[in-house]
Amino acid sequence: SSTTIRSSKFLQCFINKTNSTNNIYTPNTNSYTNVLLSSVQNTRFITSNTTTKPSFIITAATFSDVQASITCSRLAGLHVRVRSGGHDYEAMSYVSSGDPFITIDLANLRSITVDKAQGTAWVQAGATVGELYYTIAKNNRTVAFPAGICPTIGVGGHFTGGGIGSLTRTYGTSADNIVDALIVNSKGKLMNRKAMGEDLFWAIRGGGGASFGVVLSFKINLVSVPSTVTVFNVNRKLGENATELVERWQTIAPRFDEKLFIRVVAQAVNGGKTIQALFNSFYLGGIEELLTVMKKSFPELGLKREDCTEVSWLESVLFFNSDLGKSVDVLLDREPQVNSSFKAKSDFVKNSISKEGLEKIWEFLLEAKDEPLILILEPFGGKMDEILETDIAFPHRKGNLYNIQYYMRWSEKGSDVSEKHLEWMRKMYEFMTPYVSSQPRAAYYNYKDIDLGVGHGSYLEDEVWGVKYFKDNFKRLALVKGKVDHDNFFRNEQSIPPTVLFKQY
Ligand code: FDA
Repeated sequence: SSTTIRSSKFLQCFINKTNSTNNIYTPNTNSYTNVLLSSVQNTRFITSNTTTKPSFIITAATFSDVQASITCSRLAGLHVRVRSGGHDYEAMSYVSSGDPFITIDLANLRSITVDKAQGTAWVQAGATVGELYYTIAKNNRTVAFPAGICPTIGVGGHFTGGGIGSLTRTYGTSADNIVDALIVNSKGKLMNRKAMGEDLFWAIRGGGGASFGVVLSFKINLVSVPSTVTVFNVNRKLGENATELVERWQTIAPRFDEKLFIRVVAQAVNGGKTIQALFNSFYLGGIEELLTVMKKSFPELGLKREDCTEVSWLESVLFFNSDLGKSVDVLLDREPQVNSSFKAKSDFVKNSISKEGLEKIWEFLLEAKDEPLILILEPFGGKMDEILETDIAFPHRKGNLYNIQYYMRWSEKGSDVSEKHLEWMRKMYEFMTPYVSSQPRAAYYNYKDIDLGVGHGSYLEDEVWGVKYFKDNFKRLALVKGKVDHDNFFRNEQSIPPTVLFKQY
């Protein structure tokens, strides 16, 4: 078949260029499935027999392996997908909806080099954020980096899509703190910031990497934190003023002192009898200072000294991952949660939701009590308000009070299970329409959601979902794509369409 011909063309070319077969995995090799599954977070795309799996997986050991993979797949007529941490919500780094492709897996390209004097680091794309946090902060309590909460997320996908977490209000997204990068383009050429130019460097900071090339490495500015930070959890149910507290939280959390981060995790508990709002938080400073700040900013929460624990910033990463008390060495564990499937969606809230609105949302969650549906509310404001929507491709800035992530994880048992869960997620999303941003109804690209639309490689058709993720930056992204990859070699179901349509840039 044509796929077999393409495959053998690729193999011949790749072996010629690299003189090695050690890091090629084909569906006929024994270890293919293990390698495919090695970083998979969402197993429903693997168990599904409607998805196309990679014709090859290349576990790149060097930059030239990546370059050879690209040159040879272009020659063979195969597309390329790249995987760093494998956390893509729609599995676009390792399955496709039909396109034959190879996956370049970067898990072995994960070195991290810190320049203490400069306060910078070069981090390779295959590193996880846990490895990054560990490397920069294990022996230095005052150094940190703003990125996501889950330690196994890969730097490659996470940074190119934005990257939000507990330091977002203080220092912005991960992408805001990138100062240089190395990328391989669709011709196999390796380029740094200077060589790729400011347009492409702009695009890969929030526009996703997958549309533009393979990012090998980022140079980042490390940020400073106090040697002591304070973590706390406060749980409130409906009978304990949960609704009033969440209502109040919406308007004040984005305006808090930038050192204070309080996110809310809301869900039905006790077999669907009540709603629990968890105020999952940290403060960049000690307990005394925090108690003073809370008395002024959010006395209603009733935070007590005994709710608080002083830790290092690195330990706060464990706290947000419910691992406080364990050794920080767990941050080096790349092993994903196995045998589970998930679906997520996202929204941005610009006007706080009324008490009545929140009550209706709780009713919805109580009705869906048999579904493992969780709402994660992440406050924006602070530094995010100071950065312009056009500064980098990540567009969600001033005017957003918080981001909502709807998240559901389950174990696969029979093929109809997924469909039932997915249906509830769509219902939830539909239900939330009056409460969230509109025109466009914004979404966060790192919380990829295929229901928003599938790419056709055409600006006009893809605008429907493109402006949800990227707002007005979608135009510039499409132009950059037109310039650097006009024949759409790097593509997936939600990649940027190449265009030359607009003259204003
Ligand atoms: P993966 O390797 O699957 O890649 C994701 C996408 O980026 C794919 O399209 C891929 O092709 C592309 N890509 C990957 N590496 C690339 C490279 N080197 N060059 C070019 N393109 C590349 N987000 C957040 O902001 N804050 C958070 O707290 C969390 N928490 C969280 C928890 C869990 C359990 C999951 C599963 C996910 C999150 N996320 C998150 C979302 C996360 O930021 C998002 O899924 C990232 O894209 C994951 O990047 P990976 O490299 O792990 O994924």
